[in-house]
Amino acid sequence: MSTPHNQAANGEIAKVVLMPGDPLRAKYIAETFLEDPTMFNTVRNMYGYTGTYKGTRISVMGSGMGMPSIGIYSYELFSHYDVECIIRIGSAGAYTEELHLFDLVLASEAWSESTFALAQSGDDETLQKPSARVNAAIKEAAASLQKPLTEACIHSSDVFYYEANVDGHREFYAKHGCVCVEMESFALFHNAKVLGKHAACLLTISDSLVTHEETTAKQRENSFTNMMEVALEAALK
Ligand code: ADE
Repeated sequence: MSTPHNQAANGEIAKVVLMPGDPLRAKYIAETFLEDPTMFNTVRNMYGYTGTYKGTRISVMGSGMGMPSIGIYSYELFSHYDVECIIRIGSAGAYTEELHLFDLVLASEAWSESTFALAQSGDDETLQKPSARVNAAIKEAAASLQKPLTEACIHSSDVFYYEANVDGHREFYAKHGCVCVEMESFALFHNAKVLGKHAACLLTISDSLVTHEETTAKQRENSFTNMMEVALEAALK
């Protein structure tokens, strides 16, 4: 049976789902890394595919941008399709000069000023945590592939274009220890928590709010490969 946002039938989605923000990235990952990929969703063009990687069934589906969007898709995957684990794979903006373009960051926790968790379930925690087990699998995969990884607190923001407090990133770093910013993990981790499931988030630095460097679209496509390889190997564990 389907949901309002996902037309997949029961059984069409694997227990582990990799979630990039961009549905076209999901299509690219399925066609590049998975064997025999089959598309399970086209509702709102939020493409989802299931295939196999080294013999293990894995799905990949876009999350869209922001917490409301990943909040909907991840909730339905966990609660309706019996998905056990979602690994978000995305891009992030650096809040510290210690992070450089293309660096890989694994979220140790996601801090947010968002009301997502409060509105969803009365949870007033400003920090939401990933699964320790999945983070361990990601670190193990990164080490065996010799891909350096920074594990740190990240900021999940509701705002991309700030009009006020344009230097707010300094405070997010100094006060909350957030090394970079993205816009989804706080909601994903919260949904996993309330539904008794597993989630993690692996990011590639695509721009810096400190040095103002940014990657080109082409560079982002190539740099994504490192993150994909780590996430796929972790998904086997
Ligand atoms: N994802 C990648 N770069 C970002 C930024 N600067 N802000 C929020 N999300 C991002």
